Amino acid sequence: MPTRHTSVPSTLPTYDLFGPRFKAQAYTVYAQMRQEMPVYRRANAGGAGATCFITTYDEAVAVLRDARRFVKDVRNTMTPAERAALPDQPPLLRLLSNHMLNLDPPDHTRLRGLVNKAFTARMVDQLQGRVEAVAHELLDRIQPQGQADLIDAFALPLPIIVIADLLGIPTRDRNRFRTWSNALVAPSADEARNAKKLAKSRQLMQDFIDYLRAVFAARRSRPCDDLVTSLLHAEEAGDVLSEEELFSMILLLVVVGHETTVNLIGNGTLALLQHPAAAAQLRGDPALLPLAIEEMLRYDSPVERAPMRFAAEDVQLREVLIRRGDAVSVVLGSANRDETAFPAAETFDIRRDPNRHLSFGLGIHYCLGAPLARLEGRVALAALLDRLPNLELAVAPESLRWRTHPIMRGVQRLPVRWSGG
Ligand code: HEM
Repeated sequence: MPTRHTSVPSTLPTYDLFGPRFKAQAYTVYAQMRQEMPVYRRANAGGAGATCFITTYDEAVAVLRDARRFVKDVRNTMTPAERAALPDQPPLLRLLSNHMLNLDPPDHTRLRGLVNKAFTARMVDQLQGRVEAVAHELLDRIQPQGQADLIDAFALPLPIIVIADLLGIPTRDRNRFRTWSNALVAPSADEARNAKKLAKSRQLMQDFIDYLRAVFAARRSRPCDDLVTSLLHAEEAGDVLSEEELFSMILLLVVVGHETTVNLIGNGTLALLQHPAAAAQLRGDPALLPLAIEEMLRYDSPVERAPMRFAAEDVQLREVLIRRGDAVSVVLGSANRDETAFPAAETFDIRRDPNRHLSFGLGIHYCLGAPLARLEGRVALAALLDRLPNLELAVAPESLRWRTHPIMRGVQRLPVRWSGG
C-alpha cells in the first residue's frame, strides 16, 4: 500500500474544485489532494467562514461516523445568541429543507424511525416487476431508432417514474409531475437571478404541494398499498409524521429520485462502454451484476460529495484544525479512489470483492434508498445489455460534458448507438 506525505507543505496549494474544467479532471485533482492536503480548509468566497474538503478514506469515515461533532443543521453549531439573530425561514423553504437529511438527533432519529417503517425491504422487493416494466417500456420506445441520448431517454425517466409510482401519482399526471419536480430540483444560478423565473418556479412548487395535499386526502379516505398510505400511517409509540414533515419527506424523495440514480445508470453505462471486456463478461455471466453495480458506484460515485456537514466544535483532523461553524464536505468520489482502502483503485474491476465504497454514505445518514437504488441499477443495466446489442458511445469520450452540480456527478448527455435499430 502506498504511503502519503503527512507534513503541511510550506506553501499551501489551492485547488479549483468547481466548474466544467474541474469536473472533466476531478479524479486527477482529488489524487493530488489526497497526497498533498487530505483535509483542505479554505476560506469561503466573501470571507464568510471556511469549507473543509475531506478526500481520504479514513478521514471520510471518521467524519461520517461522528454525528455529534459534524452536524447537518448549522443551527446546532451556534451559541444561543447566534441562533436568536437568525432570520425566520420562509414557509416554502422550511418545507423544502426540514427533512431528515438536514437534521440531527433527536429529530433525525425520530423521523428516520417513522419513515423506516414505511420504506421496508419488502416494499422494495415488490417493486422489481414494476421497475422492469418501466425499463422495458422506455427501451421499447428507443430501440428501433438505433441511437439516443441515454440520459434523457432512459437514465433520467426511469427513477422519476418509479418515484411517481411510489407516491401513487397516476400515469395521466406524469407530465405535470415532471414539470413540478424539475422546478423543485434547485433552480439554476441563472434562474435564481431572474426574479420572474424564480416566481414561476415558486408557483410550480406551490401547485405541487396543493396536488400532494389532494393525494394525501384521497389516501386518508381510501388507503392503498403504497408508500404515501404507509407514511400517513407510520406510527411509533403514538408518534406520527406531521403534515409538514410528510411534505418535506416526499419532496426529499422527489429530489433524490431525480438527482442520484440517473447518475448511477449514466456513469455505470459509461464505465461499461469504456471497458468493453467488462461488458462482455457481464453479458456472459449476468450473475456478476450485483458486484458490478457496487463497482460502478465506487468507480464514478453518483453523489460526488456528501451534502454539507458543519463542525459543532473545533476538531483537529490530521494536520488541520477545523473550526466550530466550518462547513465540511466529505468527498465520497475521492475516498472511493483512495489506494490505501482499495487496491488498484483507479482500475474498474467488476469482480472487486470486498468493496467497502462510501457511495451511500455511512453512519446515521446512510442512504435510506440504497436497496431501491441498487434494484434500479441492476434492472436498468440488465435491460440495456440485453436489449441494445453492440452498444457504443456515439461521440468521442473527451467531448462528454459533466454537469457542474456542486455535489452530484453525472454527464449532461450520453449519446450512444447500437445495432439492429
Ligand atoms: C444511486 C443512487 C443513490 C445514491 C448514490 C445515494 C446516496 C446517498 C448518500 C451519500 C446519502 C447520505 C448523505 C449524507 O451522509 O450526507 C444518502 C441519504 C439518503 N438517501 Fe440516497 N442515494 C441514492 C438513491 C436514493 C433513493 C432512490 C432514495 C429514495 C427513494 C434515497 C433516499 C435517501 C434518503 C431519505 C437519505 C437521507 C437519510 C438520512 O438522512 O438518514 N436515496 N443517499
